[in-house]
Amino acid sequence: MAAERQVTLEVFRFDPEVDKGPRYDSFTMNVKKGMTVMEGLLHILDVQDHSLALRFACREGVCGSCAMFINGSYRLACQTQLEDLKGRRVWVGPLPHMPVIRDLVVDMAPFFEKVGMVMPWLEALSAPSGKEHLQSPQQRSIINEAVDCILCGICHSSCPMTWTKKDYLGPAALTKAFRFVADSRDVAGANRLALVNSEDGVWRCRTVFNCVEACPKNINPTDAIESLRRMLVVGRRKSR
Ligand code: F3S
Repeated sequence: MAAERQVTLEVFRFDPEVDKGPRYDSFTMNVKKGMTVMEGLLHILDVQDHSLALRFACREGVCGSCAMFINGSYRLACQTQLEDLKGRRVWVGPLPHMPVIRDLVVDMAPFFEKVGMVMPWLEALSAPSGKEHLQSPQQRSIINEAVDCILCGICHSSCPMTWTKKDYLGPAALTKAFRFVADSRDVAGANRLALVNSEDGVWRCRTVFNCVEACPKNINPTDAIESLRRMLVVGRRKSR
């Protein structure tokens, strides 16, 4: 039988409607091989404290709902094995710099509002002769990385410019803009570039790289932002 060890999850608790301030509650449990932080939190919810609030859906690193601050790092709770975390205490908090609704649930509305501002959809010409609108492997490779964004909000939460400039579009929205501007099938690139060509758009980024370090999908938002800047300065086609 696999050996079990005990771990205590120190979980951020705060209900702004009733609590004077936040606190951490301790929950001790046996950890089996392969158990994730998400499973630990669900164990708390099922067995130890039914009032814990958290957000999750797919449990396989696709939906981006369980982005949290775990032992001082940005992580997806469903992709973080308790076994891999050092020590007997694991600190679990909500995404920093986002308004807390309750416990581990933050208000994502301002984040999605920013994403919505960059036309995050494909404006495509109709496909030739009613067939699929194909891309060459080379055309697709330009957007391969940006397509993987799961909109978890981690890069946005980690960027110091979003902390101080509430109107900054932020790394996720700008990466999304790049994803469609650079898509060979898209015809609305000029409109989208106009939307990000502002003080609170691509020009607000200070190349801090927190977003690159924090992204759980290994996407490089700084590269995407730099590409958009290049397109604005030298033109879209030349910069490809
Ligand atoms: Fe922020 Fe990333 Fe730029 S952390 S300042 S968007 S490089």
